[in-house]
Amino acid sequence: MDCPGDLPAPSDPDLVARATAAKAALGDRVFVLGHHYQRDEVIQFADVTGDSFKLAQQAAARPDAEFILFCGVHFMAESADILTTPDQKVILPDLAAGCSMADMAVLGQVETAWERFEDLGITGEIVPVTYMNSSADIKGFVGRNKGVVCTSSNAKRALDWSFEQGSKVFFLPDQHLGRNTAVLEMGFDLDDCVLYDPHKPGGGLTDDQLRNARMILWRGHCSVHGRFTLESVREVRERVPGVNVLVHPECRHEVVRAADYVGSTEYIIKALDAAEPGSSWAVGTELNLVRRMALAHPDKQIMFLDRAVCYCSTMNRIDLPHLVWALEELVAGRVPNQITVDPDTAHHARVALDQMLALP
Ligand code: 13P
Ligand code: SF4
Repeated sequence: MDCPGDLPAPSDPDLVARATAAKAALGDRVFVLGHHYQRDEVIQFADVTGDSFKLAQQAAARPDAEFILFCGVHFMAESADILTTPDQKVILPDLAAGCSMADMAVLGQVETAWERFEDLGITGEIVPVTYMNSSADIKGFVGRNKGVVCTSSNAKRALDWSFEQGSKVFFLPDQHLGRNTAVLEMGFDLDDCVLYDPHKPGGGLTDDQLRNARMILWRGHCSVHGRFTLESVREVRERVPGVNVLVHPECRHEVVRAADYVGSTEYIIKALDAAEPGSSWAVGTELNLVRRMALAHPDKQIMFLDRAVCYCSTMNRIDLPHLVWALEELVAGRVPNQITVDPDTAHHARVALDQMLALP
């Protein structure tokens, strides 16, 4: 028996028609945002697609839309809730669409680290910076402590700003984005960076290591991008002469160092759009995006950097049945899977997000 509100079967041949009809019925009341890592079946219904930065800007730019349907992951929907008006409702079609990297920094652990820095008397010199890929709690912590949020497209600008405010940065939660930006874009040495491991007493660092460090990196990483290796780069260069290696800055340092180009998902798309016909590209980022680009550019040879790496399983949780379900629930007058951030956290997180949006 069919219950109203049930998730439709993936085999339902009417899913596209149902999504189209529900979206049309909602009209301007709904604004659908789609991250570049979403499946094609979902992306076709997005009003705007983008990287994390563009989607945050876009969420803030549509105060008239009653519902922001966020096809992405939980931390993005939280940021959208923080940046939208109190009357707007942000919906994540599947609540299981989290992010393993964001889960690697929990507020209690970060506060413990900060207490350690306070005991050492160095918090006055430290500016906390969190990657967008973190919970609202962590963004709130950063806002309370006069820091900034960054994304993969503005990490250098966020670090430039931070080093004008203090002499050290505490970078959460992606060690690779922090290290890659500091060393490859800002000229720091690898020795200027230390790795704070929340699972070790004192972060696994001595007092002197913390006092001397310029970048204190949190031990977090992306479980998808962390799987590309230097070996993948060497292998593709041998196999495909003249190949251009293009990777996301969430990849390991040695991979980014060995690549030809590095940038956010939006940068990757622009680079491939602008590439010469006949050129070859090995791309180190999530598979949905690489496949979409390969299909869009049959005149260019666009391949995945490593065949052993797969989709982001949490991004992939949002599929057409979840999208149809969420849209039809809205048409029926119910608000499914609303993402809300408590007002105090939202206030402080907004300070750090606004600081990012105001970066030059
Ligand atoms: P960008 O789209 O900002 O490059 O982020 C990539 C990512 O991992 C999102 O989860
Ligand atoms: Fe998180 Fe990595 Fe998936 Fe992005 S690709 S949502 S950082 S696990």
